Amino acid sequence: MKTYCISNRKGGVGKTTTTVNLGTVPALAGKKVLIIDMDPQGNATQTFRCNNYEDENQADINDVLFNGVDIHKAIVHSEFYGIDVLPNNKKVRNPGEYFNDLYEKSERDSHKIVLRDALHAVADEYDYAFIDTNPSGGTMVDIQLTASDYVLIPVDVSGYSSDGISDELEDFYNVQDTFNPNLELKGVVLGDVNPRTNLTATRQQGYGKLLDNLALKTMIRHDGNLQTSSSLYEPLFSYKKKVNGCSDYINLAYELGIINYEECELLKKEYVKTVNLRKVSKKGRR
Ligand SMILES: Nc1ncnc2c1ncn2[C@@H]1O[C@H](COP(=O)(O)OP(=O)(O)OP(=O)(O)O)[C@@H](O)[C@H]1O
Ligand SMILES: [Mg+2]
Repeated sequence: MKTYCISNRKGGVGKTTTTVNLGTVPALAGKKVLIIDMDPQGNATQTFRCNNYEDENQADINDVLFNGVDIHKAIVHSEFYGIDVLPNNKKVRNPGEYFNDLYEKSERDSHKIVLRDALHAVADEYDYAFIDTNPSGGTMVDIQLTASDYVLIPVDVSGYSSDGISDELEDFYNVQDTFNPNLELKGVVLGDVNPRTNLTATRQQGYGKLLDNLALKTMIRHDGNLQTSSSLYEPLFSYKKKVNGCSDYINLAYELGIINYEECELLKKEYVKTVNLRKVSKKGRR
């Protein structure tokens, strides 16, 4: 299993959108995918319909990280083919006390390997894992980066400068120097890009030299379908097929080596006919 951490301390830059839609691509190509929701907002969990707030006994990622619960007990099989989720269920009764406790535990160096160890236990069961992260960063950053093979930094070019990237790089180098020397920076993915501007024009908007070395070739164009699908808590691929967002995320998966050339071509041409993302119809949803 190869684990991608989708990371940016800035809020609203496309972390969840990237996790959900990039994560769906290998599943469409027949691979097994684990989505790990480190964000207490639980947006990725909701998108794959793995939230179960009613069942108090349903374990979630916090139980794995802080209560020693076996990861197998917390993973939920989603209704989408090939996609399982380690959910974040926000089922906290006394948030103040609870998060203080989490903070103290996660501050300890010995605790930084807790997610890495948990993921080792399922490494043979999945091809890829994608971690959706919490915008506030904080003490969880070390835990999630220590558990990852790769870091991918989404940047929203429509309303954001490159400042936040330096924070991300600092986190990356800190963890690479300490807990995880094998951590690799895959790059920055520019999102919400106006399709009428090219990369050069985008850079001229002030993204500067930092991005020249880090930006991936594939950009995610602005696509209103991404906004609608995320407001409906749907992966784009099950909401609308053959739109810019779908082909951009397929291209991104190919550029990152998550799918090969044949899979990329097949998905772009044929997935509408050959792949049914959802195991049950929308009508049959719980
Ligand atoms: N390429 C795109 N085109 C149009 N809208 C987009 C695009 N990418 C992301 N968005 C929209 O931007 C908003 C923020 O995206 P998202 O929720 O993925 O950000 P985030 O970084 O996960 O936010 P948070 O920090 O709150 O977790 C969403 O409404 C999403 O639909
Ligand atoms: Mg998010």
